[in-house]
Order: sequence, then structure tokens, then C-alpha cells
Amino acid sequence: MHGRSERTRAAKHYLGPEDYNDYSGENVSKWNPKRWSRGVIIGAIIAAIVIIVAIIVGAVVGSRNSNSAYPDYTQLNYTLQDTYHGTTFFDNFDYFNTYDPSQGFVHYVPEETAQQYNLTYATDSAAIMRVDTSTANATTGRFSVRITSKKQYNNGLFIFNVTNSPYGCSTWPALWLSDPSNWPTNGEIDVMEGVNQATNGNQMTLHTTDDCKMNVKRKETGKVLTTNCFNGTDDNAGCGVKGTNAATFGEAFNEQGGGTYAVEWRNAGIRIWFFQRGSEPSDIPTDVSNTTAPDPSTWSTPMADFPGTDCDISSHFKNQSIIADIDLCGSWAGATGVYSTQDQCPGTCSDFVAQNQEAYAKAFWEFASFRVYSAS
Ligand SMILES: *[C@@H]1O[C@H](CO)[C@@H](O)[C@H](O)[C@H]1NC(C)=O
Ligand SMILES: *[C@@H]1O[C@H](CO)[C@@H](O)[C@H](O)[C@H]1NC(C)=O
Ligand SMILES: *[C@@H]1O[C@H](CO)[C@@H](O)[C@H](O)[C@H]1NC(C)=O
Ligand SMILES: *[C@@H]1O[C@H](CO)[C@@H](O)[C@H](O)[C@H]1NC(C)=O
Ligand SMILES: *[C@@H]1O[C@H](CO)[C@@H](O)[C@H](O)[C@H]1NC(C)=O
Ligand SMILES: *[C@@H]1O[C@H](CO)[C@@H](O)[C@H](O)[C@H]1NC(C)=O
Ligand SMILES: *[C@@H]1O[C@H](CO)[C@@H](O)[C@H](O)[C@H]1NC(C)=O
Repeated sequence: MHGRSERTRAAKHYLGPEDYNDYSGENVSKWNPKRWSRGVIIGAIIAAIVIIVAIIVGAVVGSRNSNSAYPDYTQLNYTLQDTYHGTTFFDNFDYFNTYDPSQGFVHYVPEETAQQYNLTYATDSAAIMRVDTSTANATTGRFSVRITSKKQYNNGLFIFNVTNSPYGCSTWPALWLSDPSNWPTNGEIDVMEGVNQATNGNQMTLHTTDDCKMNVKRKETGKVLTTNCFNGTDDNAGCGVKGTNAATFGEAFNEQGGGTYAVEWRNAGIRIWFFQRGSEPSDIPTDVSNTTAPDPSTWSTPMADFPGTDCDISSHFKNQSIIADIDLCGSWAGATGVYSTQDQCPGTCSDFVAQNQEAYAKAFWEFASFRVYSAS
């Protein structure tokens, strides 16, 4: 109804050079203990004792907390529930058609307009979602698409076979799970997300209400960005993990024919794997008519691990739809420190969107299939 659905607005974590302070050593003498007064020394001793006591108390309390153990990700037996594939791919989605909650310079169009402009198009083997390239002077924002699966899920194994990801100045594409009308109450799981040239890898993020943190033991190959998933911290940056290499998103990803993202969402935790095209585990059937279920307990270390240690996964994540979009500008891609400083894109983001129709020829998603399995 009046709920807001927002994806990660992690601009703060994309620091431009001006954001890094120059620690020039000007005040170094303050840190020379020989110059400290007696009061300062006594204060320092008291502070040291307080810290030691706090560490001991913390360790004792922590070890009593039954939630503090790394979860047991033992094998679950999965059954195929849904396959999104072929010419009917888009029939399983609603087209989002109101103001972009992420302040993008974009008009998300209804299904009829998307078809008229050929922004969504499905064949037997691929579903394509793209940005309008036919309008020369899109002065109020360019046409694009955001789709939300009609079906909602409450856990499961999701296999996203993606052959092309959008990239280029001003773009902010994403593939994620969320309940747009109950955000952030029912949580958000960002599976694929990048901005502008997207040359530094895919970002995976959770967004929740309070009491969901990832400052715990994790087993993952990705790089931790922030650890508090609560939307009220870090300007709603969420708890993010960055992909291991550039080929996890954008041009480098597309050049190798894309790949497969797998999300296992269970009460123990949420894990996201990325497999390069051709390197998928052999238990993921390449033929979508093969209903054999994969077994993530046999796979390699995931790229992102969000264990339930300090986050009650079952209460923070509910009724998740599969959502995909291609946003333009907005609070992440369009932020000056990101668009201009970090990604070296020309002019202003909205001028770029309005005047460079040809730049969007490569800004498209191509999905081979989505498959969803549930634990039996
Ligand atoms: C999964 O299936 C195997 C083989 O049928 C069985 O041994 C195992 O107990 C099942 N595991 C669960 C969690 O149901
Ligand atoms: C729509 O896009 C698809 C995929 O790129 C293309 O094959 C098809 O010819 C386009 N249809 C029209 C009417 O332009
Ligand atoms: C684009 O449209 C605006 C507003 O109608 C107009 O002022 C501008 O001259 C147009 N630019 C081009 C390149 O056509
Ligand atoms: C976080 O979510 C609450 C609703 O629970 C909302 O009122 C608040 O504006 C959100 N904060 C941000 C930074 O998105
Ligand atoms: C179905 O896929 C599984 C996993 O890839 C494979 O082991 C099995 O041989 C396939 N079955 C058929 C009939 O192709
Ligand atoms: C993913 O889709 C591509 C393109 O259709 C196909 O070649 C590949 O075998 C698929 N891989 C898996 C693991 O489904
Ligand atoms: C989830 O969706 C179902 C069906 O629409 C609804 O009855 C239920 O209240 C929702 N649960 C939450 C926690 O939003």
C-alpha cells in the first residue's frame, strides 16, 4: 500500500579521493606518553582496566548466548518449486509503475509500454530487459523497467542463470529479493547490484529492521563492506559484501557469457555463490526441464555468507518476491562522489541519461532462467 521499497543506498561506501583524510602526523606529539600529565596517565590506566573488564564480561556473556555459534549448514533436501524460463517468463511478474523510491532519473513503464518499446522481450531461451534507446532527448528521465514476481517466498534455494548484466555511466541495475509493501520489516536480499561502469565487482547486501548484524564468524570469499544490516544505520547501506573480482558483474561478467548466482536462504543463514559460466557445480542441471535438485552442502565456499548468528533470519526475512530493474542515476549511481569522482562519468548524470540514447544499447539484462527450490 504505502510501503516503501528501497534498495541499498550505499553511496557512503564508495569514497572519492576527497573522502580520505590526510593523516599527516601533525598532532603526533599528543601520542607520546612521556609528555602526558599524571592525570592523563591515571585516566589511561583506568580506561585500560575498564576495557579489560569489558572484554572478559563480553566473552562470558557471549559464550552463554546460544545464538553465538556459527550455524550448522547441513544438507537440506530440495524440491523444484518454480521455473521462470521461456516465452512466458514475464507473465510471472508485475510491472512496477510509480515513482522510483530510489530517486532515479527514470520512468518505470507498465507492461504495454514495455512491449511497445520492446523493453521486455522473451524467447524460448532468454528473457531480455532493457532501457529505452529510441528517445533522443529524454528530458524528464528515460523509460526503463522494474519487475516484481507475483509469487513470494519464505526460504529456499534460488538459481539465477544470468547471461548479461547492464552497465555503463548512469546505470544502477539490480536483481534482488524483497517484499516491497513491507520494507524493511520483511527484509531485502540484494543478489546482483552494480553502478555505472561496474568494474569493481558485484555487491551483495541485506537490509533489515534493527537487530541484524554480521560482525560474527563468516565463511566467504567476498570482501566485507559493512556489518549492520539495519536500514537506520550507515544511511541504509545495509550489510554488504563485495564480489571477489570484476567478472562478477558488468562488462567482464558479460564477456565470459555471464554465470550463475545461487542463493540459499534458510533459518541458519543466507549464502550467495557465484559460478562463472561453465564452472557451475555439476548438480545444477543445465537443462531446465531436468527437475533434479542441487545440493549446496557439497559446493565450495560462497562469495557471501550472512549467518544467523546475530540475526534471526526467520523473523527478518519474509514474503520475498524476485525483483529486477535497471535504475538510472538515483541516490547511488547518480551521487556526485560516485558518478563523477569515482566512476569518472561525464557531465551530470541526468544530462547523460537525457542525451545519450545510444549509450543504453549495452544496458540490458539477459536472463536464461530462474529456478526456485524449497526444502522438503
Ligand atoms: C535427505 O535425503 C537423504 C537421502 O534420502 C536422507 O538420508 C536425509 O536424512 C535427508 N535429509 C533431510 C534433512 O531431510
Ligand atoms: C525486440 O528485441 C529482440 C531482442 O533484442 C529482437 O530480437 C526483436 O527483433 C525486437 N523486436 C522488435 C519489434 O524490434
Ligand atoms: C531537449 O529538450 C529540452 C526541453 O524541451 C530543450 O530545451 C533542449 O534544447 C533539447 N535538447 C536537444 C539536444 O534537443
Ligand atoms: C528505515 O526504515 C524505516 C521504516 O521502518 C523508515 O522510517 C526510515 O526512513 C528508513 N531509513 C532509511 C535511511 O531508509
Ligand atoms: C539431471 O541433472 C543432474 C544434475 O546435473 C544430472 O546428474 C542428471 O544426469 C540429469 N538427468 C538427465 C535425465 O539428464
Ligand atoms: C545457463 O544458461 C546458458 C544459456 O542458455 C546455458 O548455456 C547454460 O548451460 C546454463 N547453465 C546452467 C547451470 O543452467
Ligand atoms: C505474507 O503474505 C501473506 C499472504 O499475502 C500474508 O497473509 C501475511 O500476513 C504476510 N506476512 C507478513 C509477515 O507480512
